[in-house]
Order: sequence, then structure tokens, then C-alpha cells
Amino acid sequence: MPRKPRTAEESALLETARRLLPSGVRNATASPDHAMVVAEARGGHIRDVSGNEYIDYLLGSGPMVLGHAHPAVVEAVRQQLERGNTYLMVSEPAIRLAEEIVRLVPCAERVSFHSAGSESTFFALRVARAYRKRDVILKFEGGFHGMSDYALMSNQWTHRPADYPTAVPNSAGIPASVADGVLVAPFNDPATTTALIDEHHDKLAAVIIEPLQRTIRPQPGFLEALRATTERYDVPLIFDEVVTGFRLGLGGAQEYYGVTPDLCALGKSISGGHPISVLCGRKELMRHIDPFEAGRGGYVMQTGTYSGNPVSCAAALAAIGVLCQEDTYTRLFATGERLMRGLGDALAAAGIPAQVLGEPPCFEVWFGAEPITDFRSMLASDRGLHMRFTELLLDQGIVKGHEKFFVSLAHTDEDVQRTLDAFHTVASQLKT
Ligand SMILES: Cc1ncc(COP(=O)(O)O)c(C=O)c1O
Repeated sequence: MPRKPRTAEESALLETARRLLPSGVRNATASPDHAMVVAEARGGHIRDVSGNEYIDYLLGSGPMVLGHAHPAVVEAVRQQLERGNTYLMVSEPAIRLAEEIVRLVPCAERVSFHSAGSESTFFALRVARAYRKRDVILKFEGGFHGMSDYALMSNQWTHRPADYPTAVPNSAGIPASVADGVLVAPFNDPATTTALIDEHHDKLAAVIIEPLQRTIRPQPGFLEALRATTERYDVPLIFDEVVTGFRLGLGGAQEYYGVTPDLCALGKSISGGHPISVLCGRKELMRHIDPFEAGRGGYVMQTGTYSGNPVSCAAALAAIGVLCQEDTYTRLFATGERLMRGLGDALAAAGIPAQVLGEPPCFEVWFGAEPITDFRSMLASDRGLHMRFTELLLDQGIVKGHEKFFVSLAHTDEDVQRTLDAFHTVASQLKT
């Protein structure tokens, strides 16, 4: 169905947003013609203020693995709201949630709560520094770990990569000295990564990685090699599972790929869309955020007004309850597999060289014939065609992010069929 024209109400809202929000009008694409203001979202669908309904594969940038406004989450939140929405002091939902995380996530012996993924990766790095009594972080080129000064280095928005291991800041306003504390390695390259760790291990506080880097899968043996090398030097290995946690399975990427890190950051899919994130890991490391450590000099101060917020914890418990039901992940993967296969087939039928990468709950298409195994090969793909693909899909009533399709349990067979039809329409448009 063609999109309805933008109403005067939505135009006025967008105008006010442009005037007052310097970060711009956050949307699935950069094109002003495609800007929209969301009115509501339910299940696998989202509706704009002009009354257009879209199948939603952006899903709030991933959290809505159950779909929007899932009844179990809405009810848990409603019940908790009636008991008050923030206490600072620990509550039963927080304690029960910590139990669930320790039960489900392989590396989790101890847990701390935060409000956003950026915060949990930030604290992971700080805890690792306290443990190692060293400062330098090794990360992978193209990997994203949020907004802290250390995280915003050589991520997926790097236009001109430097020679390894030099870090490239992705933002103004970061002190110049921070880049000296970050080494950058190529994803899926065990030889270069091992050589860098061998050379710099005595300065290293931690290695941080997205085990599924954006949508690039780890090649067999890569995560295992990283685990072995970091273990040899007792350098904490941090998995940033803000995307993969509770999306690839209850135990996240570490269970899915069979490699257990020392620390792990979780967020997004854990809580049915409520702001909470988690740092969890081995007790020898996590003990550094225990205030009783203060006297021993290794204390990492960690507090936040909304850390362990009872509404978010209640939402997370409800979401995990649904995710623990039988067949959940079988269904999620089956939906994603149909979409991935259908997308690849549509582009192949149109003769457009492309690759559909990732895992079924979270994938993306990149345009070009050369295999994509790391950030530099992804950078070489046709970004212009990629942006056009996202915009043309939006015209077909399909919303996705600029670098990922997120799949939910709420996407129906009909949604999938409509999406597959849209892939064929868009593929033929891209050909012309
Ligand atoms: C892998 C990864 N780490 C960290 C973050 C930061 O999480 P948040 O946006 O909740 O701060 C994100 C956000 O997209 C992410 O994808």
C-alpha cells in the first residue's frame, strides 16, 4: 500500500523537532523525505502520526525481541508501578533478576545493574583496569561499544581507518590522550590479534569484542584463539553482548558460539524495552565494585540513580519468563532464516551482487561481490546502494535500521510474506 502523504500535524511536529533537537530527527534513514514521528507500536508493527503502518524490523534498535507492548511485560510494569517506580535501594525484582542472569548466562557469577549499554561496557572496562592495574584496552575495528570516550574509537562509522593498532576517535570532544590507551585489531584475524596481544600484554587491561561484530560472524576458531591468548596473559576478555544477549539465545553469544568470556555487558533484549543494562562476570573481577573493597585500594565506584530500577527489573523478569518458554528461539530463528533466505534469493534473481550476513535474529545485507569478513571488507561494499535499499523498503512499508534487521517473536507469517514480496519489488527497483 503506498504511503499516505505526511499530515500537517506530523509536518509541524517534525519542524519543531528539527528546531529544538540538535541531534536531529532520529529515524531509520537519513533522508528528510522519509522522516517520521512514531505514534505507537504494537507487536511487530509501528505507526506514524500520519497513520502509515509499517512492519518494524528496527524494533527500537533491537530490544523488542518479544514485539512491542507485549502483554506480559505491560502487566509486570503496571503491577510494579503501583508499588512505586524507583527506590535506589535494592528490591526483590532486582535480586530475582540477578538470580536469573546467573542461572542463564555462562560467565555470570556476579551481577551489577546499570541503565544503558554504554554504561555497562564503560564499567566493564573500568573493572578490568582495576583488576589488572593497567590501562590499555584492545578493541576490534568496526566494533561498537557505546558512547564512552574509550568505546568511541575505530567503530563502524570510521571513514579512514589507520594502520593497526592505531585507534581513530569517532567523535569530537574526546581528550586526545584517550586514543593512546586503545589498541585496534582486525576482527576475524587471529594471527594479527594474537601478535598484538603478545607484544602489548604487559600494558593491557582488557580485550573487548562484539562476538557477532555488527552482523559479521566470527569465523570458526577466532573467538577460541582470542580466549586462549587472553587467558595465557590473564587479560580479562569482555564480550559486549548488548545486542546478542537474550537475542541469540538465553545464554547469548557466549553460549551460542561456545566461548565464555570473563565479563559480559548485556542490555537491549533483556527487558522488553525498559532501560536497564547489566555487567556480569567472574567473581574475582566483579568483587572490585564491592564497597568493602574500598579499604583495599581496588574499589571501582559504581552508583546510578536508576541502576537496578525496580520497574525495569520487573519488565526484564517478565521478558525472560516469555523467552524461557519452549520453542521461543526455534521460532525466532525460523522467522529470521526465511527472511535471510528470501532477501538473498530476491537480490540474486535481480542479478544484484550482495551478501546477507549475520545470524537469523539479527542480520543485514551488504552490496558487493567480495566476501565480507571484517570492517574493511564491509567498508568496501556499496554504501549508496545500501542506503537506497533501506529507503525503498520504507516506501514499501518496511522499517529497518541503517545496519541491521532485527527479528521479533511478534512477526507473523503474513508479515514475513509481505516482507518477502517487498524484497522482490525493491530488488527490481534497485536494478533499474
Ligand atoms: C554492541 C553494543 N554495545 C553497546 C551499545 C550501547 O548501548 P546503549 O545504546 O543502550 O547505550 C550498543 C547500542 O546499540 C551496541 O549495539
